[in-house]
Amino acid sequence: MNQAVSEWVRDARRIVLLSGAGMSAESGVPTFRDAQTGLWARFRPEELATEDAFRANPQRVWDWYASRREMIAQVTPNAGHVAVAEFQRRHPGRLTVVTQNVDGLHQRAGSPGVLALHGNIAEDRWLDRARSCCVPENIEAGRPPRCAICGNLRRPAVVWFGEMLPAQVLRQAEEAAAACDLMLVVGTSGVVYPAAGLARATAGRVVVVNPHASELDDAAHAVLRGTAAALLPQLLLGAP
Ligand code: APR
Repeated sequence: MNQAVSEWVRDARRIVLLSGAGMSAESGVPTFRDAQTGLWARFRPEELATEDAFRANPQRVWDWYASRREMIAQVTPNAGHVAVAEFQRRHPGRLTVVTQNVDGLHQRAGSPGVLALHGNIAEDRWLDRARSCCVPENIEAGRPPRCAICGNLRRPAVVWFGEMLPAQVLRQAEEAAAACDLMLVVGTSGVVYPAAGLARATAGRVVVVNPHASELDDAAHAVLRGTAAALLPQLLLGAP
């Protein structure tokens, strides 16, 4: 393990861990931009991950998210997620998780207060503004479910391309990034904003953890070429 980076972790008062899909790769969750296995190598995001796509073909988009939900329900947090949660248990309040991932694996590993910039695939919400009739007891099962009274559809509670991130979560993430003295950027290609912008806006030292080159390497004070599950237990817990 890089001695200097280990000392930065030891000495840091406030750490932000900014994670992307690579954080969950060793749990078996596909990333997005891997040339062979990435979701966007096999599916077209404009047909599946935009509001227009959902309005054009609600069942197709709903079914795609339902299949991802089912896959994610079968996987478990990996040693990287577990190391992050264990560090937070040992050092309450010192590390904030800001994730682009919608898989809920940081939360399932036990991390508290996860700032999920892009939402959570396990949840859904109303597509259009909820009316007085849009209440749980009026939800009619379907693909997608809808309000039995007015027909308002349910949609995955994730941020689609072209949509605003949840304002309060983003504000909290920006505040954490501004206040931290160390940001660990784990498993992200760094091509999607505003998430990637957090690594460029922070006053803290930036350490990238990624087995491959990323768009945030140039913003890093150190780059650790390796995987989340291999490096985070060493980096955070001093594991051998
Ligand atoms: N450990 C750490 N990093 C890994 C691992 C691993 N085991 N395996 C792959 N990676 C790295 C890849 O090298 C890549 O840089 O994880 C990164 C994954 O990049 P993307 O697939 O682009 O995922 P991400 O950066 O999270 O995408 C951001 O784009 O499509 C949107 O909303 C979606 O949140 C997503 C956003």
